[in-house]
Amino acid sequence: MKHVKRIIAVMLSVCMLIGCVGCGSSNTNKGEESHSTKKRIIRIAHSQAETHPEHIGLLKFKKYVEEKLGDKYEVQIFPNELLGSQTKAIELTQTGAIDFVLVGTPNLENFAKVYEIFSMPYLFTSEEAYHAAMNDNAYMKKIYESTDETGLRVVTWYNVGTRNFYAKKPIKTPDDLKGLKIRVQQSPASVNMANAFGAAASPMSFGEVYTAIQQGVIDGAENNELALTSNKHGEVAKYFSYNKHQMVPDVLVANLKFLDGLSADEKKVFEDAAKLSTQVEEKEWNKQVKEAKDYAQKEMGVKFINVDVQAFRNKVLGVQKQMLKDNPNIRDSYKHFQTFNKKYEKEAK
Ligand code: GCU
Repeated sequence: MKHVKRIIAVMLSVCMLIGCVGCGSSNTNKGEESHSTKKRIIRIAHSQAETHPEHIGLLKFKKYVEEKLGDKYEVQIFPNELLGSQTKAIELTQTGAIDFVLVGTPNLENFAKVYEIFSMPYLFTSEEAYHAAMNDNAYMKKIYESTDETGLRVVTWYNVGTRNFYAKKPIKTPDDLKGLKIRVQQSPASVNMANAFGAAASPMSFGEVYTAIQQGVIDGAENNELALTSNKHGEVAKYFSYNKHQMVPDVLVANLKFLDGLSADEKKVFEDAAKLSTQVEEKEWNKQVKEAKDYAQKEMGVKFINVDVQAFRNKVLGVQKQMLKDNPNIRDSYKHFQTFNKKYEKEAK
């Protein structure tokens, strides 16, 4: 499978570089019109399967853009890390070989330090606070623009629930994590977090996790319920603990030059398409997460464990303090997000 992916990725990269006719590509990155019959191909890369809520959200994006601007643009979606891991696909977006990529925010930490905020364990105290914070467009705009000087701009976010530990053996208390090799996303903040829990953090790309668990290279990982079903991790890890250590958004990242090359009207279409895709993804997520839990339990034999979340939270409160001390870029967001935590705590009382 890996080889097939690599071959497809190489073929596509060659295609993109030479703008070959078979791909229908017209290299209009610099604004030039090529063949009048050809459409500008918009390429979007992501890591999930074609059944995943994010793919479904992106189909909406495609449909909307093509409905409004179909004479000029065609949107192509590349799922399943076909164009490489998220780290690689960001590079492709940065160089303009592709136009958009969907990644978890930890992948942006190397581009703008403010993104570390989303890796902070227990940053949000409720899902309501998290959603309200992410939907605070005026504030998020500042964060989205923080990667501008690297040629990237986030255009919207997607909800992918809460992250939790899952492994080959049950994790009931933080102590159960001691010495376990746990895969985390490839960012320093994610590594620090898992280590603070007492685990041995093992950063690797998402596509490698299944085999790594299967072969015993790692003991487990941390993610949402769909990783069990959509990515089949439930076949190799049978215990999923609801310790809810993070709510890490995925974001749709654009090549900034591409966005800046659009007319005001076109830009509006792309912005609306992005917003719509977020709404569609959210709805689909809520539906699929229930189905995933059910399927994992009944068909894959995964046991879901409810744990004392406070015990896990206590274990990493020091990480929050340390992160705030080490990274001045996250202080403002931290403070801002607390207003949502307070608001929803009060409402819950
Ligand atoms: C989630 C998330 C992905 C991310 C993955 C990971 O599935 O949606 O964007 O890549 O977690 O843990 O790497």
